[in-house]
Amino acid sequence: MTNILCIGAGYVGGSTMPVIASHCPEHRFVIVDINEARIAAWQSDQLPIYEPGLDEIVSQTRGKNLFFSTETDRHIAEADIIFVSVNTPTKTFGHGAGRAADLQFWEKTARQILENSTSSKIVVEKSTLPVRTAEAMERILNSNTKGLHFDVLSNPEFLAEGTAIRDMQNPDRVLIGGRETGSGRKAVERLVELYAHWVPRDRIITTNLWSSELSKLVANAFLAQRISSINSISAICEKTEADVSEVANAIGRDERIGRYFLRASVGFGGSCFRKDILNLVYLCEHYGLPEVARYWEQVVLMNEYQEARFAANMVASMFNTVAGKRIALFGAAFKAHTSDTRESPALAVCRTLLEEKADIVMTDPYALDNACQDLQDLGNQITYEPDPYAAARNAHAIAILTEWPQYTQLDYERIYQSMVKPAFVFDGRNLLDHKKLYELGFNVYPIGKPALTRLVNHGIEAA
Ligand code: NAD
Ligand code: UGA
Repeated sequence: MTNILCIGAGYVGGSTMPVIASHCPEHRFVIVDINEARIAAWQSDQLPIYEPGLDEIVSQTRGKNLFFSTETDRHIAEADIIFVSVNTPTKTFGHGAGRAADLQFWEKTARQILENSTSSKIVVEKSTLPVRTAEAMERILNSNTKGLHFDVLSNPEFLAEGTAIRDMQNPDRVLIGGRETGSGRKAVERLVELYAHWVPRDRIITTNLWSSELSKLVANAFLAQRISSINSISAICEKTEADVSEVANAIGRDERIGRYFLRASVGFGGSCFRKDILNLVYLCEHYGLPEVARYWEQVVLMNEYQEARFAANMVASMFNTVAGKRIALFGAAFKAHTSDTRESPALAVCRTLLEEKADIVMTDPYALDNACQDLQDLGNQITYEPDPYAAARNAHAIAILTEWPQYTQLDYERIYQSMVKPAFVFDGRNLLDHKKLYELGFNVYPIGKPALTRLVNHGIEAA
Protein backbone atom coordinates (compact mmCIF):
# COMPACT_ATOMS: atom_id res chain seq x y z
CA MET A 1 0.00 0.00 0.00
CA THR A 2 1.16 3.50 -0.83
CA ASN A 3 0.02 6.51 1.20
CA ILE A 4 -0.99 9.20 -1.24
CA LEU A 5 -1.75 12.71 -0.07
CA CYS A 6 -3.28 15.54 -2.04
CA ILE A 7 -2.85 19.07 -0.66
CA GLY A 8 -5.71 21.26 -1.87
CA ALA A 9 -9.32 20.05 -1.94
CA GLY A 10 -10.54 22.38 -4.67
CA TYR A 11 -11.90 21.59 -8.12
CA VAL A 12 -8.77 19.73 -9.15
CA GLY A 13 -7.85 17.88 -5.94
CA GLY A 14 -11.50 17.11 -5.26
CA SER A 15 -12.27 15.66 -8.67
CA THR A 16 -9.00 13.91 -9.55
CA MET A 17 -8.25 12.03 -6.33
CA PRO A 18 -11.60 10.21 -6.01
CA VAL A 19 -11.16 8.88 -9.56
CA ILE A 20 -7.58 7.73 -8.92
CA ALA A 21 -8.67 6.21 -5.59
CA SER A 22 -11.50 4.31 -7.28
CA HIS A 23 -9.02 2.70 -9.68
CA CYS A 24 -6.35 2.00 -7.05
CA PRO A 25 -8.19 0.36 -4.14
CA GLU A 26 -4.91 -1.00 -2.72
CA HIS A 27 -3.63 2.52 -1.99
CA ARG A 28 -4.79 4.97 0.68
CA PHE A 29 -5.67 8.53 -0.37
CA VAL A 30 -6.09 11.57 1.87
CA ILE A 31 -7.09 15.03 0.64
CA VAL A 32 -6.30 17.93 2.95
CA ASP A 33 -7.15 21.60 2.86
CA ILE A 34 -6.69 24.63 5.10
CA ASN A 35 -10.30 25.54 4.47
CA GLU A 36 -12.23 23.74 7.23
CA ALA A 37 -15.66 24.50 5.76
CA ARG A 38 -14.58 22.99 2.46
CA ILE A 39 -13.36 19.80 4.11
CA ALA A 40 -16.58 19.57 6.14
CA ALA A 41 -18.54 19.85 2.87
CA TRP A 42 -16.45 17.09 1.27
CA GLN A 43 -17.35 14.92 4.25
CA SER A 44 -21.07 15.66 3.88
CA ASP A 45 -23.76 14.87 1.31
CA GLN A 46 -23.54 18.41 -0.02
CA LEU A 47 -20.19 18.45 -1.83
CA PRO A 48 -18.61 21.91 -2.20
CA ILE A 49 -18.60 21.77 -6.01
CA TYR A 50 -21.16 20.66 -8.57
CA GLU A 51 -19.63 18.31 -11.09
CA PRO A 52 -21.62 15.63 -12.95
CA GLY A 53 -20.72 12.13 -11.67
CA LEU A 54 -18.71 13.42 -8.71
CA ASP A 55 -21.24 12.53 -5.98
CA GLU A 56 -21.26 8.89 -7.08
CA ILE A 57 -17.51 8.48 -7.22
CA VAL A 58 -17.00 10.20 -3.85
CA SER A 59 -19.61 8.02 -2.19
CA GLN A 60 -17.96 4.89 -3.66
CA THR A 61 -14.52 5.74 -2.27
CA ARG A 62 -14.99 7.99 0.78
CA GLY A 63 -14.34 6.19 4.05
CA LYS A 64 -12.86 3.18 2.17
CA ASN A 65 -9.56 4.31 0.68
CA LEU A 66 -10.29 8.03 0.41
CA PHE A 67 -10.35 10.43 3.36
CA PHE A 68 -10.71 14.19 3.78
CA SER A 69 -8.90 16.03 6.55
CA THR A 70 -7.53 19.35 7.77
CA GLU A 71 -4.59 17.72 9.57
CA THR A 72 -2.05 18.50 6.89
CA ASP A 73 1.08 18.12 9.02
CA ARG A 74 0.24 14.62 10.23
CA HIS A 75 -0.69 13.39 6.76
CA ILE A 76 2.46 14.85 5.20
CA ALA A 77 4.51 12.80 7.65
CA GLU A 78 2.67 9.61 6.63
CA ALA A 79 2.69 10.16 2.86
CA ASP A 80 4.85 8.46 0.24
CA ILE A 81 3.56 10.52 -2.67
CA ILE A 82 2.20 14.07 -2.30
CA PHE A 83 0.15 15.74 -5.03
CA VAL A 84 -0.01 19.51 -4.64
CA SER A 85 -3.12 21.07 -6.17
CA VAL A 86 -3.33 24.36 -4.32
CA ASN A 87 -4.49 27.49 -6.10
CA THR A 88 -2.02 29.53 -8.15
CA PRO A 89 -3.93 32.72 -8.96
CA THR A 90 -2.63 35.77 -10.77
CA LYS A 91 -0.52 37.98 -8.51
CA THR A 92 -2.36 41.12 -7.43
CA PHE A 93 0.54 42.94 -5.82
CA GLY A 94 4.21 43.83 -6.28
CA HIS A 95 6.40 42.82 -9.18
CA GLY A 96 4.46 41.10 -11.97
CA ALA A 97 1.08 42.12 -10.51
CA GLY A 98 -1.77 41.29 -12.91
CA ARG A 99 0.34 38.76 -14.84
CA ALA A 100 2.70 36.57 -12.86
CA ALA A 101 1.43 33.61 -10.86
CA ASP A 102 1.07 34.17 -7.13
CA LEU A 103 3.09 31.30 -5.74
CA GLN A 104 2.60 32.04 -2.04
CA PHE A 105 0.25 29.07 -1.47
CA TRP A 106 2.59 26.89 -3.43
CA GLU A 107 5.70 27.90 -1.49
CA LYS A 108 3.93 27.58 1.86
CA THR A 109 3.08 24.02 0.91
CA ALA A 110 6.69 23.27 0.00
CA ARG A 111 7.89 24.54 3.37
CA GLN A 112 5.17 22.62 5.19
CA ILE A 113 6.23 19.42 3.41
CA LEU A 114 9.83 20.09 4.39
CA GLU A 115 9.00 20.73 8.06
CA ASN A 116 6.81 17.68 8.53
CA SER A 117 8.65 15.04 6.53
CA THR A 118 10.45 12.24 8.26
CA SER A 119 10.95 10.11 5.13
CA SER A 120 11.88 10.71 1.48
CA LYS A 121 8.95 11.40 -0.84
CA ILE A 122 7.75 12.06 -4.34
CA VAL A 123 6.16 15.49 -4.67
CA VAL A 124 3.90 15.97 -7.68
CA GLU A 125 3.01 19.37 -9.11
CA LYS A 126 -0.66 19.07 -10.04
CA SER A 127 -1.32 22.82 -9.93
CA THR A 128 -0.58 24.82 -13.06
CA LEU A 129 2.74 26.55 -12.53
CA PRO A 130 5.24 28.74 -14.35
CA VAL A 131 7.88 26.75 -16.19
CA ARG A 132 10.87 25.98 -13.94
CA THR A 133 8.87 26.11 -10.69
CA ALA A 134 9.98 22.54 -9.99
CA GLU A 135 13.52 23.83 -9.69
CA ALA A 136 12.50 26.13 -6.81
CA MET A 137 10.50 23.31 -5.23
CA GLU A 138 13.50 20.98 -5.41
CA ARG A 139 15.76 23.63 -3.91
CA ILE A 140 13.45 24.22 -0.96
CA LEU A 141 12.81 20.54 -0.29
CA ASN A 142 16.33 19.27 -0.80
CA SER A 143 17.76 22.01 1.44
CA ASN A 144 16.79 19.79 4.40
CA THR A 145 19.37 18.64 6.88
CA LYS A 146 17.49 15.45 7.74
CA GLY A 147 19.12 13.45 4.94
CA LEU A 148 15.81 13.16 3.08
CA HIS A 149 15.53 13.10 -0.71
CA PHE A 150 12.60 14.55 -2.63
CA ASP A 151 11.81 13.83 -6.28
CA VAL A 152 9.68 16.56 -7.79
CA LEU A 153 7.48 15.59 -10.74
CA SER A 154 5.21 17.67 -12.93
CA ASN A 155 1.84 16.11 -13.69
CA PRO A 156 -0.39 18.92 -14.94
CA GLU A 157 -4.12 18.39 -15.05
CA PHE A 158 -6.03 18.80 -18.32
CA LEU A 159 -9.58 18.13 -17.14
CA ALA A 160 -12.30 20.64 -17.94
CA GLU A 161 -14.99 21.52 -15.42
CA GLY A 162 -18.40 20.06 -16.16
CA THR A 163 -16.74 16.98 -17.70
CA ALA A 164 -14.06 16.47 -15.04
CA ILE A 165 -14.99 12.90 -14.14
CA ARG A 166 -15.35 11.82 -17.76
CA ASP A 167 -12.03 13.50 -18.61
CA MET A 168 -10.31 11.74 -15.71
CA GLN A 169 -11.81 8.37 -16.56
CA ASN A 170 -10.81 8.62 -20.19
CA PRO A 171 -8.03 11.18 -20.62
CA ASP A 172 -6.60 12.07 -24.05
CA ARG A 173 -3.25 11.90 -22.36
CA VAL A 174 -1.59 11.97 -18.97
CA LEU A 175 1.58 14.03 -18.89
CA ILE A 176 4.37 13.30 -16.43
CA GLY A 177 7.59 15.27 -16.37
CA GLY A 178 10.59 14.30 -14.29
CA ARG A 179 14.33 14.55 -13.92
CA GLU A 180 16.44 12.34 -16.14
CA THR A 181 18.34 10.90 -13.17
CA GLY A 182 18.10 7.39 -11.73
CA SER A 183 15.85 8.47 -8.91
CA GLY A 184 13.90 10.86 -11.17
CA ARG A 185 13.17 8.05 -13.63
CA LYS A 186 12.07 5.73 -10.80
CA ALA A 187 9.72 8.41 -9.48
CA VAL A 188 8.21 8.91 -12.95
CA GLU A 189 7.71 5.16 -13.26
CA ARG A 190 5.82 5.04 -9.92
CA LEU A 191 3.41 7.68 -11.14
CA VAL A 192 3.06 5.97 -14.53
CA GLU A 193 2.11 2.76 -12.68
CA LEU A 194 -0.56 4.57 -10.72
CA TYR A 195 -2.25 5.95 -13.86
CA ALA A 196 -1.72 2.68 -15.75
CA HIS A 197 -4.39 1.14 -13.47
CA TRP A 198 -6.90 2.52 -15.99
CA VAL A 199 -5.13 4.66 -18.61
CA PRO A 200 -3.60 2.83 -21.61
CA ARG A 201 0.19 3.14 -21.50
CA ASP A 202 0.39 4.80 -24.91
CA ARG A 203 -1.62 7.71 -23.54
CA ILE A 204 0.82 8.31 -20.71
CA ILE A 205 3.46 10.71 -21.99
CA THR A 206 6.69 11.22 -20.09
CA THR A 207 8.89 14.26 -20.73
CA ASN A 208 11.48 16.37 -19.01
CA LEU A 209 10.19 18.59 -16.20
CA TRP A 210 10.24 21.84 -18.13
CA SER A 211 8.39 20.50 -21.17
CA SER A 212 5.69 19.20 -18.88
CA GLU A 213 5.30 22.46 -16.95
CA LEU A 214 5.31 24.54 -20.12
CA SER A 215 2.91 22.24 -21.99
CA LYS A 216 0.15 22.99 -19.52
CA LEU A 217 0.36 26.75 -20.08
CA VAL A 218 0.65 26.21 -23.82
CA ALA A 219 -2.36 23.87 -23.97
CA ASN A 220 -4.57 26.48 -22.31
CA ALA A 221 -3.12 29.26 -24.45
CA PHE A 222 -3.87 27.34 -27.66
CA LEU A 223 -7.41 26.46 -26.55
CA ALA A 224 -8.21 30.04 -25.57
CA GLN A 225 -6.56 31.33 -28.75
CA ARG A 226 -9.08 29.39 -30.84
CA ILE A 227 -12.00 30.98 -28.99
CA SER A 228 -10.53 34.47 -29.35
CA SER A 229 -9.89 33.78 -33.03
CA ILE A 230 -13.49 32.77 -33.74
CA ASN A 231 -14.81 35.58 -31.54
CA SER A 232 -12.80 38.10 -33.55
CA ILE A 233 -14.44 36.66 -36.66
CA SER A 234 -17.90 36.95 -35.03
CA ALA A 235 -17.42 40.73 -35.01
CA ILE A 236 -16.79 40.87 -38.75
CA CYS A 237 -19.70 38.45 -39.36
CA GLU A 238 -22.04 40.88 -37.63
CA LYS A 239 -20.92 43.62 -40.03
CA THR A 240 -21.22 41.53 -43.20
CA GLU A 241 -24.21 39.18 -42.73
CA ALA A 242 -21.87 36.18 -42.72
CA ASP A 243 -22.88 33.61 -40.08
CA VAL A 244 -20.11 32.66 -37.64
CA SER A 245 -21.50 29.13 -37.12
CA GLU A 246 -21.38 28.54 -40.86
CA VAL A 247 -17.87 29.93 -41.05
CA ALA A 248 -16.76 27.76 -38.09
CA ASN A 249 -18.28 24.70 -39.72
CA ALA A 250 -16.68 25.47 -43.08
CA ILE A 251 -13.18 25.99 -41.68
CA GLY A 252 -13.45 23.28 -39.03
CA ARG A 253 -14.00 20.60 -41.69
CA ASP A 254 -10.39 21.09 -42.64
CA GLU A 255 -8.72 18.50 -40.45
CA ARG A 256 -5.68 20.72 -40.11
CA ILE A 257 -7.89 23.24 -38.34
CA GLY A 258 -10.32 20.86 -36.59
CA ARG A 259 -13.87 21.50 -35.46
CA TYR A 260 -13.56 21.82 -31.69
CA PHE A 261 -13.36 25.03 -29.68
CA LEU A 262 -14.74 27.14 -32.48
CA ARG A 263 -18.00 28.14 -30.77
CA ALA A 264 -18.24 31.91 -30.83
CA SER A 265 -19.47 33.25 -27.51
CA VAL A 266 -19.72 36.22 -25.22
CA GLY A 267 -16.18 35.28 -24.19
CA PHE A 268 -14.29 32.54 -22.43
CA GLY A 269 -14.27 32.38 -18.66
CA GLY A 270 -13.05 29.96 -16.01
CA SER A 271 -10.33 30.17 -13.45
CA CYS A 272 -7.48 29.24 -15.74
CA PHE A 273 -7.43 30.53 -19.33
CA ARG A 274 -6.91 34.17 -18.43
CA LYS A 275 -4.49 33.53 -15.58
CA ASP A 276 -2.44 30.97 -17.50
CA ILE A 277 -2.10 33.13 -20.61
CA LEU A 278 -1.13 36.13 -18.51
CA ASN A 279 1.41 33.94 -16.81
CA LEU A 280 2.79 32.89 -20.21
CA VAL A 281 2.94 36.58 -21.19
CA TYR A 282 4.85 37.35 -18.01
CA LEU A 283 7.29 34.50 -18.60
CA CYS A 284 7.91 35.66 -22.18
CA GLU A 285 8.71 39.14 -20.89
CA HIS A 286 10.91 37.70 -18.18
CA TYR A 287 12.89 35.74 -20.77
CA GLY A 288 13.27 38.83 -22.99
CA LEU A 289 10.70 37.87 -25.64
CA PRO A 290 8.41 40.94 -25.86
CA GLU A 291 7.07 40.07 -29.35
CA VAL A 292 5.97 36.64 -28.14
CA ALA A 293 4.43 38.23 -25.04
CA ARG A 294 2.36 40.68 -27.15
CA TYR A 295 1.18 37.84 -29.41
CA TRP A 296 -0.34 35.87 -26.54
CA GLU A 297 -1.58 38.91 -24.68
CA GLN A 298 -3.82 39.64 -27.63
CA VAL A 299 -5.82 36.47 -26.86
CA VAL A 300 -6.82 37.97 -23.50
CA LEU A 301 -7.43 41.44 -24.94
CA MET A 302 -9.69 39.96 -27.62
CA ASN A 303 -11.68 38.22 -24.89
CA GLU A 304 -12.12 41.47 -22.96
CA TYR A 305 -13.20 43.13 -26.21
CA GLN A 306 -15.80 40.43 -26.87
CA GLU A 307 -17.34 40.76 -23.38
CA ALA A 308 -17.42 44.55 -23.70
CA ARG A 309 -18.77 44.38 -27.26
CA PHE A 310 -21.63 42.13 -26.16
CA ALA A 311 -22.73 44.49 -23.37
CA ALA A 312 -22.31 47.56 -25.60
CA ASN A 313 -24.41 45.90 -28.28
CA MET A 314 -27.17 45.30 -25.74
CA VAL A 315 -27.23 48.95 -24.75
CA ALA A 316 -27.08 50.19 -28.35
CA SER A 317 -29.85 47.84 -29.48
CA MET A 318 -32.12 48.89 -26.63
CA PHE A 319 -32.24 52.48 -27.89
CA ASN A 320 -28.96 53.46 -26.24
CA THR A 321 -30.21 53.21 -22.71
CA VAL A 322 -30.85 50.41 -20.25
CA ALA A 323 -31.16 52.68 -17.21
CA GLY A 324 -33.98 51.45 -15.00
CA LYS A 325 -34.80 48.58 -17.38
CA ARG A 326 -35.11 45.11 -15.93
CA ILE A 327 -32.73 42.73 -17.70
CA ALA A 328 -32.72 38.99 -17.00
CA LEU A 329 -29.31 37.35 -17.22
CA PHE A 330 -29.74 33.65 -17.97
CA GLY A 331 -26.64 31.96 -16.60
CA ALA A 332 -23.95 32.94 -14.13
CA ALA A 333 -21.57 29.96 -14.46
CA PHE A 334 -18.63 30.36 -16.85
CA LYS A 335 -19.91 27.34 -18.81
CA ALA A 336 -22.71 24.81 -18.50
CA HIS A 337 -22.63 21.88 -16.03
CA THR A 338 -20.64 23.67 -13.37
CA SER A 339 -21.41 25.90 -10.41
CA ASP A 340 -18.11 27.74 -10.94
CA THR A 341 -18.36 31.47 -11.68
CA ARG A 342 -14.66 32.33 -11.65
CA GLU A 343 -13.92 34.82 -14.48
CA SER A 344 -17.39 34.15 -15.85
CA PRO A 345 -18.29 36.47 -18.73
CA ALA A 346 -21.76 36.63 -17.13
CA LEU A 347 -20.31 38.58 -14.23
CA ALA A 348 -18.42 40.95 -16.54
CA VAL A 349 -21.59 41.66 -18.54
CA CYS A 350 -23.53 42.08 -15.30
CA ARG A 351 -21.07 44.68 -13.99
CA THR A 352 -21.15 46.68 -17.24
CA LEU A 353 -24.95 46.73 -17.35
CA LEU A 354 -25.09 47.82 -13.73
CA GLU A 355 -22.80 50.73 -14.58
CA GLU A 356 -25.44 51.62 -17.17
CA LYS A 357 -27.94 51.54 -14.28
CA ALA A 358 -29.90 48.53 -15.52
CA ASP A 359 -32.05 46.64 -13.05
CA ILE A 360 -30.40 43.20 -13.10
CA VAL A 361 -31.95 39.86 -12.22
CA MET A 362 -29.68 36.86 -12.50
CA THR A 363 -30.75 33.24 -12.79
CA ASP A 364 -28.75 30.00 -12.92
CA PRO A 365 -29.56 26.40 -11.94
CA TYR A 366 -26.41 25.82 -9.86
CA ALA A 367 -24.19 28.90 -9.69
CA LEU A 368 -26.23 31.59 -7.93
CA ASP A 369 -24.52 31.17 -4.55
CA ASN A 370 -21.08 31.60 -6.11
CA ALA A 371 -22.25 34.53 -8.23
CA CYS A 372 -23.70 36.22 -5.17
CA GLN A 373 -20.37 35.81 -3.37
CA ASP A 374 -18.32 37.08 -6.34
CA LEU A 375 -20.56 40.11 -6.74
CA GLN A 376 -20.93 40.91 -3.04
CA ASP A 377 -19.20 44.27 -3.52
CA LEU A 378 -22.33 45.33 -5.43
CA GLY A 379 -24.49 44.79 -2.34
CA ASN A 380 -28.18 44.33 -3.09
CA GLN A 381 -28.13 45.85 -6.57
CA ILE A 382 -28.77 42.44 -8.14
CA THR A 383 -31.76 40.15 -7.69
CA TYR A 384 -30.88 36.44 -7.65
CA GLU A 385 -33.77 34.33 -8.91
CA PRO A 386 -33.49 30.58 -9.45
CA ASP A 387 -36.67 30.44 -11.57
CA PRO A 388 -36.01 31.72 -15.12
CA TYR A 389 -39.70 32.46 -15.69
CA ALA A 390 -39.79 34.71 -12.63
CA ALA A 391 -36.51 36.31 -13.71
CA ALA A 392 -37.88 37.21 -17.13
CA ARG A 393 -41.20 38.57 -15.84
CA ASN A 394 -41.48 42.31 -16.62
CA ALA A 395 -37.99 42.30 -18.16
CA HIS A 396 -37.13 44.28 -21.29
CA ALA A 397 -34.44 41.80 -22.28
CA ILE A 398 -33.01 38.36 -21.66
CA ALA A 399 -29.30 37.73 -22.14
CA ILE A 400 -28.15 34.11 -22.48
CA LEU A 401 -24.75 33.99 -20.84
CA THR A 402 -24.32 30.30 -20.01
CA GLU A 403 -25.24 27.51 -22.43
CA TRP A 404 -27.36 25.51 -19.93
CA PRO A 405 -29.35 22.98 -22.00
CA GLN A 406 -32.42 23.64 -19.81
CA TYR A 407 -32.68 27.12 -21.34
CA THR A 408 -33.51 25.54 -24.70
CA GLN A 409 -36.51 23.77 -23.12
CA LEU A 410 -38.26 26.83 -21.68
CA ASP A 411 -41.67 28.02 -22.88
CA TYR A 412 -40.58 31.21 -24.66
CA GLU A 413 -44.14 32.04 -25.67
CA ARG A 414 -44.99 32.29 -21.97
CA ILE A 415 -41.80 34.25 -21.32
CA TYR A 416 -42.56 36.64 -24.19
CA GLN A 417 -46.06 37.29 -22.88
CA SER A 418 -44.67 38.20 -19.46
CA MET A 419 -42.07 40.69 -20.74
CA VAL A 420 -42.15 44.42 -21.54
CA LYS A 421 -42.41 45.07 -25.29
CA PRO A 422 -40.42 45.36 -27.47
CA ALA A 423 -38.83 42.27 -25.95
CA PHE A 424 -35.19 41.45 -26.65
CA VAL A 425 -33.08 38.29 -26.52
CA PHE A 426 -29.31 38.63 -26.65
CA ASP A 427 -27.93 35.16 -27.13
CA GLY A 428 -24.30 35.21 -25.98
CA ARG A 429 -23.97 31.48 -26.60
CA ASN A 430 -25.94 31.04 -29.84
CA LEU A 431 -27.95 28.51 -27.86
CA LEU A 432 -31.57 29.16 -28.76
CA ASP A 433 -33.67 28.73 -31.89
CA HIS A 434 -33.44 32.32 -33.11
CA LYS A 435 -35.96 32.04 -35.93
CA LYS A 436 -38.57 30.61 -33.58
CA LEU A 437 -37.99 33.37 -31.04
CA TYR A 438 -38.29 35.98 -33.78
CA GLU A 439 -41.58 34.46 -34.89
CA LEU A 440 -42.84 34.69 -31.29
CA GLY A 441 -42.19 38.44 -31.43
CA PHE A 442 -38.73 38.77 -29.88
CA ASN A 443 -35.98 40.94 -31.31
CA VAL A 444 -33.09 38.52 -31.39
CA TYR A 445 -29.40 39.38 -31.28
CA PRO A 446 -27.10 36.35 -31.63
CA ILE A 447 -23.28 36.40 -31.69
CA GLY A 448 -21.75 36.66 -35.16
CA LYS A 449 -25.05 36.29 -37.03
CA PRO A 450 -27.47 38.81 -38.46
CA ALA A 451 -29.89 40.14 -35.85
CA LEU A 452 -33.54 39.15 -36.30
CA THR A 453 -35.36 42.32 -35.47
CA ARG A 454 -38.37 44.22 -36.71
CA LEU A 455 -37.04 47.42 -35.23
CA VAL A 456 -34.53 48.03 -38.03
CA ASN A 457 -37.33 48.10 -40.61
CA HIS A 458 -39.12 50.76 -38.63
CA GLY A 459 -35.94 52.77 -38.58
CA ILE A 460 -35.94 53.09 -34.81
CA GLU A 461 -32.93 50.93 -34.04
CA ALA A 462 -30.14 52.86 -32.43
CA ALA A 463 -26.88 53.26 -34.32
P1 NAD B 1 -9.27 25.85 -5.94
O1 NAD B 1 -9.10 27.26 -5.50
O2 NAD B 1 -10.63 25.33 -6.24
O3 NAD B 1 -8.61 24.87 -4.86
C1 NAD B 1 -7.37 25.06 -4.27
C2 NAD B 1 -7.48 24.63 -2.81
O4 NAD B 1 -6.19 24.66 -2.21
C3 NAD B 1 -8.36 25.57 -1.96
O5 NAD B 1 -9.42 24.83 -1.38
C4 NAD B 1 -7.40 26.12 -0.90
O6 NAD B 1 -8.00 26.32 0.37
C5 NAD B 1 -6.35 25.01 -0.85
N1 NAD B 1 -5.07 25.44 -0.27
C6 NAD B 1 -4.34 26.56 -0.54
N2 NAD B 1 -3.21 26.55 0.20
C7 NAD B 1 -3.21 25.42 0.94
C8 NAD B 1 -2.32 24.84 1.91
N3 NAD B 1 -1.17 25.44 2.24
N4 NAD B 1 -2.67 23.67 2.49
C9 NAD B 1 -3.82 23.06 2.17
N5 NAD B 1 -4.70 23.54 1.27
C10 NAD B 1 -4.40 24.70 0.66
O7 NAD B 1 -8.33 25.68 -7.22
P2 NAD B 1 -8.49 24.59 -8.41
O8 NAD B 1 -9.46 25.09 -9.40
O9 NAD B 1 -8.63 23.24 -7.82
O10 NAD B 1 -7.05 24.72 -9.09
C11 NAD B 1 -5.90 24.26 -8.44
C12 NAD B 1 -4.75 24.29 -9.44
O11 NAD B 1 -5.05 23.42 -10.55
C13 NAD B 1 -4.48 25.66 -10.06
O12 NAD B 1 -3.10 25.78 -10.27
C14 NAD B 1 -5.20 25.59 -11.40
O13 NAD B 1 -4.60 26.42 -12.35
C15 NAD B 1 -5.02 24.14 -11.78
N6 NAD B 1 -6.05 23.59 -12.68
C16 NAD B 1 -7.37 23.87 -12.47
C17 NAD B 1 -8.33 23.30 -13.30
C18 NAD B 1 -9.79 23.58 -13.09
O14 NAD B 1 -10.57 23.17 -13.94
N7 NAD B 1 -10.22 24.25 -12.05
C19 NAD B 1 -7.95 22.41 -14.30
C20 NAD B 1 -6.59 22.13 -14.46
C21 NAD B 1 -5.65 22.71 -13.64
C1 UGA C 1 -10.05 24.50 -19.61
C2 UGA C 1 -9.40 23.46 -20.52
O1 UGA C 1 -10.38 23.02 -21.48
C3 UGA C 1 -8.89 22.27 -19.72
O2 UGA C 1 -8.21 21.37 -20.58
C4 UGA C 1 -7.93 22.78 -18.63
O3 UGA C 1 -7.48 21.71 -17.83
C5 UGA C 1 -8.64 23.80 -17.77
O4 UGA C 1 -9.12 24.89 -18.60
C6 UGA C 1 -7.77 24.43 -16.72
O5 UGA C 1 -6.56 24.41 -16.83
O6 UGA C 1 -8.40 24.98 -15.83
P1 UGA C 1 -12.39 24.77 -18.41
O7 UGA C 1 -11.93 26.16 -18.15
O8 UGA C 1 -12.94 23.98 -17.27
O9 UGA C 1 -11.19 23.90 -19.01
O10 UGA C 1 -13.52 24.79 -19.53
P2 UGA C 1 -13.53 24.88 -21.14
O11 UGA C 1 -14.46 23.86 -21.64
O12 UGA C 1 -12.17 24.90 -21.72
O13 UGA C 1 -14.21 26.30 -21.37
C7 UGA C 1 -13.54 27.49 -21.01
C8 UGA C 1 -14.37 28.68 -21.47
O14 UGA C 1 -14.38 28.80 -22.88
C9 UGA C 1 -15.84 28.60 -21.05
O15 UGA C 1 -16.28 29.88 -20.64
C10 UGA C 1 -16.55 28.16 -22.31
O16 UGA C 1 -17.89 28.54 -22.35
C11 UGA C 1 -15.71 28.88 -23.37
N1 UGA C 1 -15.76 28.27 -24.71
C12 UGA C 1 -15.31 27.01 -24.91
C13 UGA C 1 -16.23 29.03 -25.78
O17 UGA C 1 -16.63 30.19 -25.62
N2 UGA C 1 -16.24 28.46 -27.04
C14 UGA C 1 -15.78 27.19 -27.26
O18 UGA C 1 -15.81 26.75 -28.44
C15 UGA C 1 -15.32 26.46 -26.16
